[in-house]
Amino acid sequence: MPLVNMKDMLDHAHAHGYAVGAFDLVGLDFLEAIVVGAERARAPVILSLAESHFSHFDLELAMPAVEAAARRAQVPVAIHLDHGASLDSAIRAIRLGANGVMVDASHLDIGDNIDATRAVTAMAHACGVCVEGELGYVPGVEGEDAERHPGPVQYTTVAEAKAFVERTGVDCLAVSVGTVHGRMKDKPGLDWGRLKDIHAALGLPLVIHGGTGLSDDQFRKLITFGVAKINYYTALADAAGDAIRAAARAGARSYTALLAGVREPIAAEVERCLRVLGSPRFQCNK
Ligand code: 13P
Repeated sequence: MPLVNMKDMLDHAHAHGYAVGAFDLVGLDFLEAIVVGAERARAPVILSLAESHFSHFDLELAMPAVEAAARRAQVPVAIHLDHGASLDSAIRAIRLGANGVMVDASHLDIGDNIDATRAVTAMAHACGVCVEGELGYVPGVEGEDAERHPGPVQYTTVAEAKAFVERTGVDCLAVSVGTVHGRMKDKPGLDWGRLKDIHAALGLPLVIHGGTGLSDDQFRKLITFGVAKINYYTALADAAGDAIRAAARAGARSYTALLAGVREPIAAEVERCLRVLGSPRFQCNK
């Protein structure tokens, strides 16, 4: 299955009442396991590379592997820059093969966020690349305890979201309705009325960050209110961490012995998550 255009992928999900999982990968084990999980679920998938993780791997070295994995996958795949910090980041990711980019200027005031996002949209659309903007602030840090990063949730407002989409031309919008990045003690309470109103006003695919910790019912309800992309990472990182700790307890000492068991739990969690997100099941020969 070739790489597919991320806008087509999200528009299809949005029109047909399911969501695509976007899983941040931090190495080859994650890359292989995410594709295996998607193939088992026979679901489309977004291979997501977060700029905040670039200290863990070299993007230039990683992208040829990501592209090779996408091209040989038996399900539709898109390659996405997650939490891109600047126009230069977006250009770099597109040059290296990303066909979706996120501009994360959500920490700026709305005027500066619009300017930064519009610049990326103009460049990316000229390259046929899908753009995700973010409005409102989703606190927390992927892979860490949410309570260690307790910044206030800044909820997306309907009026600002409408102006933002009109002025930036983004293809999909990440909204803040109560989710948090990272590991949470309790299920977050979500502002369903707000999400419903944003979707009614915009009518374009919405994105939820901070997928870890949401219940299956919350996932399904998000989709009924226009969410077509769900970002998910911490649960995968924790499943891998648990496998490494279990291997160490069982006496493994070398690098390969410690890592030997990480792919299966990551793949299992990706598969579980994608089955909940409800995509049509693609024909798959594996
Ligand atoms: P979690 O790590 O909370 O699943 O969030 C991932 C995310 O939103 C990546 O952008």
